[in-house]
Amino acid sequence: MTSVAADHALEVINLKKAFGGLAVTQNVSLTIRPGERRLIIGPNGAGKTTLFNQISGDMRPNSGQIKLFGNDVTTLAPYQRAHRGLSRTYQIITLFAGDTLEHNVTLGLLGLRPSRWQMWRPLAFYSDLATEARRTLDAVGLLHLADHPISEIAYGEKRRVELAMALAQKPRVLLLDEPLAGLSDTERSTVKSLIASISRETAVIMIEHDMDTALDLAETVTLLNYGRVIVDGERDTVIADERTREVYLGV
Ligand SMILES: Nc1ncnc2c1ncn2[C@@H]1O[C@H](COP(=O)(O)OP(=O)(O)OP(=O)(O)O)[C@@H](O)[C@H]1O
Ligand SMILES: [Mg+2]
Repeated sequence: MTSVAADHALEVINLKKAFGGLAVTQNVSLTIRPGERRLIIGPNGAGKTTLFNQISGDMRPNSGQIKLFGNDVTTLAPYQRAHRGLSRTYQIITLFAGDTLEHNVTLGLLGLRPSRWQMWRPLAFYSDLATEARRTLDAVGLLHLADHPISEIAYGEKRRVELAMALAQKPRVLLLDEPLAGLSDTERSTVKSLIASISRETAVIMIEHDMDTALDLAETVTLLNYGRVIVDGERDTVIADERTREVYLGV
């Protein structure tokens, strides 16, 4: 824990990332306050997920800097960033299908993906984690399915398991990549309430195309296009901005 309250939960400074000749993140800078609710919008291919990948450490930028609560984490591995309070969900479900909900969330608590399960830890350590995993599943309304394999549950429930995994780490910065995509109306409102109930100890940065739902959750909005920040600021100001209409809202 950082003892001094930092001004910024997250700072992204001049981030650049190219794949071959394709510049996907072009000088992206962002600052997120502790507890802030930020929505990231932009057309398909704008570089939103690529930005998250660099913030989480799943991808290295070509240049630029990422700071968490004032500390530079640009060269740290994803698990090291997780230990510093960063957690995320993925646009594509990454759960371990053959394993139970409880075990998947336990892995999330370790800040690990299934392939990185560490067998050498003492058993009591895992039983504490399992208790915490069940508590987190309860918080997302899925305790009754804790012992079922992921492969047996519905798509919307899988998305909630992913959210549980990310929340189990008690992050101070949480990245959600399209948490509402592909959900039924009922699931959407369940997930919306879950996101709305996340503690103010946690800054939430969400990529989402479902503006009707996502705007209710957002205080601030960043519009990306072709890897650049086009507009950034208070929600209503960004939504009213002509550039947002041109690039994204299509009006
Ligand atoms: N690993 C990679 N190698 C090559 N190109 C990539 C890679 N990852 C992403 N890209 C390209 O970068 C661009 C931005 O992709 P990204 O996934 O960040 O978009 P996005 O804004 O999240 O879009 P969507 O709304 O469709 O999820 C796309 O043109 C994509 O094809
Ligand atoms: Mg994406």
